[in-house]
Amino acid sequence: MDSANRTGYFVTTPIYYVNDVPHLGTAYTTIAADVFARFHRLRGRNVRFLTGLDEHGQKIAEAAEAAGLEPKAFVDRMAAPFREAWAALDTNPDDFIRTTEERHQRVVQALWSRIAATGDIYKGLYEDWYCTGCEAYYTEKDLVDGKCPVHERPATKMRTESYFFRLSAYQERLLRFYAAQPDFVLPASRMNEVVRFVESGLRDLSISRANFRWGIPVPGDDEHVMYVWFDALSNYVSALGGEGAPDYRSFWPADVHLVGKDILRFHAVYWPAFLIAAGMPLPRHVFAHGWLTINGQKMSKSLRNVVEPRRLAECYGVDAVRYYLMRDVNFGLDGDFSHAALVGRINADLANDLGNLLNRTVALVEKLAGGTVPPAGEPGERERALRQAAERTAAQAADEFEAYRPHRALEAIWALCAEGNRFVDAAAPWALAKAGRTAELHSVLYAALEALRWIALMTLPVMPGKARIALSRIGDVLPAAWPATWGGLPSGVKVVRGEPLFPRIDADREKELARMLGIGTEGAAVGDRRSTVEGAPAADRPPPAAAVAPTADRPPPTAAPNPERAQRVEGTIPYDHFAKLELRIAKVLAAEKVPKADKLIRLSIDAGDGTPRTIVAGIAARYQPEQLVGKRIVVLANLEPRTLRGIESHGMLLAATHDGKPCVLTVEDEIPPGTRVS
Ligand code: MSP
Repeated sequence: MDSANRTGYFVTTPIYYVNDVPHLGTAYTTIAADVFARFHRLRGRNVRFLTGLDEHGQKIAEAAEAAGLEPKAFVDRMAAPFREAWAALDTNPDDFIRTTEERHQRVVQALWSRIAATGDIYKGLYEDWYCTGCEAYYTEKDLVDGKCPVHERPATKMRTESYFFRLSAYQERLLRFYAAQPDFVLPASRMNEVVRFVESGLRDLSISRANFRWGIPVPGDDEHVMYVWFDALSNYVSALGGEGAPDYRSFWPADVHLVGKDILRFHAVYWPAFLIAAGMPLPRHVFAHGWLTINGQKMSKSLRNVVEPRRLAECYGVDAVRYYLMRDVNFGLDGDFSHAALVGRINADLANDLGNLLNRTVALVEKLAGGTVPPAGEPGERERALRQAAERTAAQAADEFEAYRPHRALEAIWALCAEGNRFVDAAAPWALAKAGRTAELHSVLYAALEALRWIALMTLPVMPGKARIALSRIGDVLPAAWPATWGGLPSGVKVVRGEPLFPRIDADREKELARMLGIGTEGAAVGDRRSTVEGAPAADRPPPAAAVAPTADRPPPTAAPNPERAQRVEGTIPYDHFAKLELRIAKVLAAEKVPKADKLIRLSIDAGDGTPRTIVAGIAARYQPEQLVGKRIVVLANLEPRTLRGIESHGMLLAATHDGKPCVLTVEDEIPPGTRVS
C-alpha cells in the first residue's frame, strides 16, 4: 500500500447522526478506525484519527422538536453519550468534530464559495420524492409502492427552489479518477459497484434547502441552508482547519474514510466530485464495511435487540468485545453479532489459546527459572523455528492491517499462539529442568516469552488494555514498537503471574451475563431501555436497504440483493447454533470403569480449564479404561452437567457408533488440551 511511505496517516469514521445514541453499528466503525489508528501509531506514523457528529438537517430539527428542545440544546444534550461511549470502548480519537462548531461552518462556507466560483453551483427548481430518514431525494422509479426503499415509509413530493451542484459534468472525471486509482474504494467488489453507478449517468445534485433553517447558511443567500450531506462530508477537511492550515498540510488527503456500505455513494461519488470541483486532492481510500445484524436480525429498537456497546464492554470486558468484533466479522462483509459467538471467542481464543500460553509460560518461569526472564542463551533448532514463525507472522499481520483486513491479521497472530503452545509442549521445559539441562531450559523459556511478547505487541491495536497487561507480566515495560526485535526482552526482569488475563465464562456466568444485559437465551434483548435517551425520538435505526419484508423464519436481508448472506436451506442450521457448541480437544488423564455399570467409564480429562474435569461416557463396550489414558479426544465442554450413577459428568466426548459399539474420536497430533474444535 502506498500509505506506508508517508509519515502522516489520517483515518476517519462517518460523523454520526446525533438523533440516535451510540449503538453496536456505530461502535463497530469507531472501534475499527481506532484499531487502524493504533496500528499505524505502533508503526511510528503520525496519526490523526477523526470522528464526530452530524448535527444539522431536517431529521435532527424534527427530533429536537419532538423532544421539545431548541435544536442546539438538543444536539448538545445528545453529543455527550457519544464521547462517553467511545471512551468506554477504549477508542482514542485525536479529534471529535461537531458540525455546529464555528471551525466547521467557516470551512464549509469557504468550500461552497470556491465551487460556486467555478460555475458548478447554480440555482434551479427541484421536484422529486424526499425521505427525511435518508435526507435524500428519490426518483419515482426508486420508490417501492411509493415508499422509501430504505425506510419503507412514504416519501414526500417536494418542489422547491434549490441550489444544484453540476454533478453531471463530473462523470468522465470521476471515471478517469477511478481508473487511475483502482483501489480508491475497498473492498474491490465495491469499487465495481461505484463505477457501474457512475457509468449509468449522473444527475445534478440538489445541495440546498429552503424549507427549514437548521443548517449552515448558503453564502450570500439567507433563504437557503446547505444540504446536510454537503455540510457533513466537508467535516473531513474542516477538522484539519481547511485548505492551507498546518494540519491540512500534514494529513490531507485522508488515507481512508471508513464507512458503512449504506453511505458509500456519498463518499465515493459526491465527495470526490466536490473535491475535484474545489481543486483539492482526493482521499486515498474509502473502505466500505458491511452491516452488522444481531442474531441474524437487523438492529432495531422495535425488535428490542439493540445492544448498548458500553454495557457490552462492562459485562464482557472492552478488549474481549473489540477482539470479537475485529476477529469474527470479515471486515468488508456483513456480519452477525451473537452473544454465544462472543462467549465462544472469549473462551477459546482469549482464555484458552492466549491466556493459557501466558499463564503456563509465566508459571514455568516462576517454577523453573526463579521467576525472572532467563538469559536468551544459544537458541536451538526449535527456538530458531519459533523465531522464524514470529517474524513471518509479524510481516503477514502487518500487511493484513495495512490492507484493512484485521480479521486476517488476528487469524495469523492466533496461529502463532498455537505455535507457541506447541513449542512449549514439544520443548518440555519441565523435562529439561529435571535433566539439569539449564542452558537449554533457559533458551526455551526465553523463546516462549519472546513469542508471547511479539503476540502481545501485535494485539495492542485491537486489545490495548490486555495486551499491555500481558507485556508487563512478562517484564516488558518498554515503549511498544512494531516491528519488534527478537531478543529485545531484557533478561533478569521479574515476571508476574497474576489473575487470568481473560477468565473463562462458564455456563452459569454466561447466564448471569445474559441476565445483566437483559438478553434471552437466543441473545435477543428483552427491552433494553438504556439505549433510548430521554427526549430522543423512538425512531428506529435506518434499517439496511431491505426490499423484502422479514418473516418469522427468514431474517431480513441486510441489503437487497445480498450475495453474502445466502437464504437458509431447509434442514440446515445457522452458524450461530454451531458456534454455541464448545467443542474442545481434551487429554485423558485417568480412566476407570464405573462399578455396576456395564457400559460406563469415568474419565478424568484435561480440557484446558486449569483443573481436571470428570466425564462419564458409555464406551466400555469397546474400550478398556487403560487404552484411553493419554489419548487426545474431542469433548463438548459446555454441556449441562448430568449425573450418571451418582457421578456428575461435566461434558460429553464425541464418538461414532459402528457395529453397535462406540468408537471415540481422537486426534493424533499433540494439540494442546483446551484447543477449540471449529
Ligand atoms: N451522518 C451520516 C454520515 C455522514 S459522514 C460524512 C450517517 N450517520 S449514521 O449515524 O446513520 O451512521 C452511519 C454509519 O454508522 C454507517 O455508515 C456505519 O458506519 C454505521 N452503522 C450504522 N448501523 C450499522 C450496522 N447495523 N452495522 C454496521 N455499521 C452500521 O449516515
